[in-house]
Amino acid sequence: MANILTALQPSGVLHIGNYFGAIEPFVKLQDDGNTNFLFIVDYHAITVPQDPKQLRQNILFAAATYLAAGVDPNKTLLFQQSRVSAHTELAWILNCLTHMGELERMTQFKDKTRNKGESVTVGLFDYPVLMAADILLYDTNIVPVGEDQKQHVELARDIAERFNNRFGETFVIPKPHIRKEGARVMALDDPTSKMSKSAASDKNFLSLMDDEKTVEKKIKAAMTDAEGTIVNRPGRLGVSNLMTIYELVSGKTMAQIEAAFEGKGYAQFKQDLIEQINQFLQPLQQRIHDSLKDHKNLIEILEAGAQKAQAIAEKKMQQVREAIGVKLS
Ligand code: TYM
Repeated sequence: MANILTALQPSGVLHIGNYFGAIEPFVKLQDDGNTNFLFIVDYHAITVPQDPKQLRQNILFAAATYLAAGVDPNKTLLFQQSRVSAHTELAWILNCLTHMGELERMTQFKDKTRNKGESVTVGLFDYPVLMAADILLYDTNIVPVGEDQKQHVELARDIAERFNNRFGETFVIPKPHIRKEGARVMALDDPTSKMSKSAASDKNFLSLMDDEKTVEKKIKAAMTDAEGTIVNRPGRLGVSNLMTIYELVSGKTMAQIEAAFEGKGYAQFKQDLIEQINQFLQPLQQRIHDSLKDHKNLIEILEAGAQKAQAIAEKKMQQVREAIGVKLS
């Protein structure tokens, strides 16, 4: 028995990196008799400007997507981060244990703020501490995430250890769970950087909602190399990335894919990859659409999850308040 927890931002677009890096690994662990937490980190989302109307839609879309991906509300507490105020309360306490230098070293912060000057918010800087609070509040053992979140989970471990050393055993030390293939799906148009929804070009990523024509256009334009073979070797970034995507959507192994395309070129491989992606996406999109039709049901599921999460989180907060000396009786 373990506590499994992950969270994603409601950013409107979820791409296949998000799906294979975090959602699928979470869903696979969900069935092991574990206690499971999956939430929509709306307070992380507002570290960059959001349109309120769009944000509301994005939250519902995120919930519909997790359900469509196999998240079972009977086994998982599915909720909105903002509905459990203990997340921000604990983040404040952890802020007072976190060093500026630790946050300055976060590579994601450096990437997100390059050339942004004075407009960077304190919230964006503090984002990893809110994430540490998300994780530590629920005695989490395992955090399924993509490679890019590993450093943040390690920071959560460091903060938990510091708290426990100073105030006594309070927090479980969490471990990141990072899959071998798919933990870092690379951009289609630039396989030296990770697939990202905030990229300048939409040819960078495959959205879970892309239609057949869009998938075809993006895969046809995806970067390969001059070698022309379907062989996965270090250094062949574009081809290896496409083969990894093939592996993820089809369930076939790298060896099977190499064997199937021996002696064949990119045109045939890409055509087949387009079909595999569409076969994977279409039933998922259908389930997302079905789920989105019933807003009331989505809100009820999120609310029921929040109620349960609040009760667990409040118990932990009582322990924390007592440990740091602000609880009087
Ligand atoms: P977010 O919303 O940016 O991304 C959600 C999840 O998708 C993974 N991911 C990828 N995986 C593989 N290849 C990619 N190209 C790729 N891009 C993104 C991310 O690693 C992540 O697992 N701070 C987090 C959300 C968060 C959280 C938490 C996660 C807040 N609190 C507590 C775990 C536990 C974030 O912004 O992820």
